[in-house]
Amino acid sequence: MAQTNTQPFLTDVQELRKRARANLDKGAVTPAYQADVKQTIDILQSVLATEIVCVLRYTMNAVAATGISSDSVKEEFEQHAKEEQRHMREVAERINQLGGTPDFNPEGLLSRSASEYSVGGNLVEMIKENLVAERIACEHYRELIRYFADKDPTTRVMMEGILTNEEEHANDMHDLLVAHEGKPMLPKS
Ligand SMILES: [Fe+2]
Ligand SMILES: [Fe+2]
Repeated sequence: MAQTNTQPFLTDVQELRKRARANLDKGAVTPAYQADVKQTIDILQSVLATEIVCVLRYTMNAVAATGISSDSVKEEFEQHAKEEQRHMREVAERINQLGGTPDFNPEGLLSRSASEYSVGGNLVEMIKENLVAERIACEHYRELIRYFADKDPTTRVMMEGILTNEEEHANDMHDLLVAHEGKPMLPKS
């Protein structure tokens, strides 16, 4: 059964971007910095929250998607859910390596995340919401890669791997949208 969605469609992209950048603006890099470990952990906690929200959203979509030719789309959502779970795990392991405790607390999860848990009513809405979420993630992760640069190559290389995968996700969602709507949706940046 289709759910009615009274929320406007991802109106708060600006807010999500602002939130994604908040940790980058916080604190200064010390001269001796290879990496300010606490800063890195804080940034990775928000990446972790973003990935958890992506796991939840794609899992829900994989279960809830209905309609004509939804089977292939469900499979795609399922595949993405698995990959987001892998990202989630990688980021959590890195936080642990750096001496932090990965924050899996469901309380406040959305406020730590740069991704939204949106309840798209129909298949096309789900695809659109995922496309927007993936594009925001890509934009955010590119910024983090520039930030980590040579200060923390291990974290940077991990983020590069995740980014490559998020770009594929955005591309998959774009292709699905074209297949289902016949035209690409280009959200305002
Ligand atoms: Fe991801
Ligand atoms: Fe993704």
